[in-house]
Amino acid sequence: MLTIRQGGMRDCKDLLDVYMSTHWTEKYTTVEQVKAAHRGIGFQKWGWLVVEVKDRVVGEVLFRVEKNPVAGRIGIITDIGVDVRYQKKGIGTKLVAAAESALKAKKVGRLVATSPPDTYNFWMKLNWFARGSLMDIDTSPSKIPIKKTTKISTMRLEDVTKLPKSMLFSNIAYPGLLAETASAVVDGGRRGELFEFYSKDALVGVGVCADYGNRTAMFVADITVSGAPYFDVVVSRTARVAIQLKAQTVTSRIPSDKVQSYGRLTRWSSQLVRSIPLTKLV
Ligand SMILES: CC(C)(COP(=O)(O)OP(=O)(O)OC[C@H]1O[C@@H](n2cnc3c(N)ncnc32)[C@H](O)[C@@H]1OP(=O)(O)O)[C@@H](O)C(=O)NCCC(=O)NCCS
Repeated sequence: MLTIRQGGMRDCKDLLDVYMSTHWTEKYTTVEQVKAAHRGIGFQKWGWLVVEVKDRVVGEVLFRVEKNPVAGRIGIITDIGVDVRYQKKGIGTKLVAAAESALKAKKVGRLVATSPPDTYNFWMKLNWFARGSLMDIDTSPSKIPIKKTTKISTMRLEDVTKLPKSMLFSNIAYPGLLAETASAVVDGGRRGELFEFYSKDALVGVGVCADYGNRTAMFVADITVSGAPYFDVVVSRTARVAIQLKAQTVTSRIPSDKVQSYGRLTRWSSQLVRSIPLTKLV
């Protein structure tokens, strides 16, 4: 008998087994680590479903919603895992179907997930398909030109206790990355800054820049539709925080079709990301 239900902290004990077999690169060894992955500003409780077989949790799916100017709302499946001893029995399919219907109930226009190359067939069988690709870009922070303008004011977000609504958003940034990077600062204890950018009273952009160790800072920047003319300002002001963080390299993960826009600001090294962006229209 198989049950899919809302997840809760009490499930983290069983989920440790799941994480040890499915998230092996991240080295989960304690229940507390699994609990930490299920709380904080980027985590939405309604977007957590677990699957139980004979009173034991053997898998889960995590998802959330963010705003997008084209699709209205996007549903993002941020993680899915089934205990290796229970894989290839149709459980993953049922979890994705359950997440899809919960997201449809939230009126999303499009679904998004990111798959490692070796799991792509699984998604294809569920009618999710690759859409575009992602690039990791990097440069030295000192090579990012300062974009001076009095038209745009920078608001530093301090004492953040929940995810600012402006960060549950993607327009040209890859869905989910703003929220993920903001959580890494607020919950994950990484040094960094969160910003909103305004033209008069109108929000035109958002940005996060965080220290990822090894003298590397990671940033994610995005603009609203009306913020399009200020793309360079938003990216420059966000990415240059890397100087403050004493990073030698500043990096971002962006949709490949946005490489040119970033290239107009400065020269970046770029590398194709192996993970595959997936989408499904609702
Ligand atoms: C991906 C995952 C959730 C699939 O769960 P599952 O319960 O094994 O999936 P299902 O049994 O519902 O599989 C559905 C179909 O996809 C296929 N499939 C499942 N995993 C696959 C994989 N890794 N590679 C290729 N095909 C796969 C199954 O064979 C099945 O095909 P069939 O219908 O022709 O028999 C599970 O393998 C897992 O937890 N992997 C590790 C974590 C991971 O990679 N997560 C993805 C992050 S986006």
